[in-house]
Amino acid sequence: MKIDIVEHEPPYRVGVIVGSLSRESINRRLATALQRLAPPELEFFEIGYGDLPLYNRDLDSDYPQEALDFKAAVRSADALLFVTPEYNRSLPGPLKNAIDWGSRPWGQNAWSDKPTAVIGASAGQIGTAVGQQSLRSTLSFLNARQMTSPEAYIHFTSGLVEDSGEVTVPETEEFLRTFMVKFLEYTARVLTVIPQA
Ligand code: FNR
Repeated sequence: MKIDIVEHEPPYRVGVIVGSLSRESINRRLATALQRLAPPELEFFEIGYGDLPLYNRDLDSDYPQEALDFKAAVRSADALLFVTPEYNRSLPGPLKNAIDWGSRPWGQNAWSDKPTAVIGASAGQIGTAVGQQSLRSTLSFLNARQMTSPEAYIHFTSGLVEDSGEVTVPETEEFLRTFMVKFLEYTARVLTVIPQA
């Protein structure tokens, strides 16, 4: 058996999906920091989902334009970066709704084989660990490729990341920088060995 190796040179376009719709989101600030610290081979655009209706399979035969646009944005990304809070020990409902829209109609799953990374911040001690596991479980079912190491559970303290995305604690800044280097490496490996739709 022969495995095809596909040349896919950087830069890679990363779709950023922030798991919070809040204007004051600490996860949005974290997403800004990650983009600032990332290696130049990664380029970013945000994939919004706040205007999606609630998913209803009755609409599978007549997908709303918002959902078609959302799926097109997901498909256009070389990789996806999820930056999300934990809601009640799970992933936030609006994010799950968006993922559901991206997964349907049956057989047209936009998440399949996408290289993904998951990270999140909360004021709680376990820094979104349980919420991330819920998200990972869904991404796993949808056949998204996931960077499993390093994990990143950010315990957010006041002022840790400025609105501008500047990280005020050098050790955290270095950790986040390394996280993005690893994500670049992971993305390059996935795109090299797994053909993309
Ligand atoms: C929370 N929060 C929270 N935090 C946590 O560590 N574990 C949890 O399960 C929850 N659950 C939860 C549910 C709901 C509905 C809300 C609104 C909040 C607190 C949460 O981490 C905090 O509000 C963060 O600031 C949310 O992230 P953003 O929106 O600032 O990015």
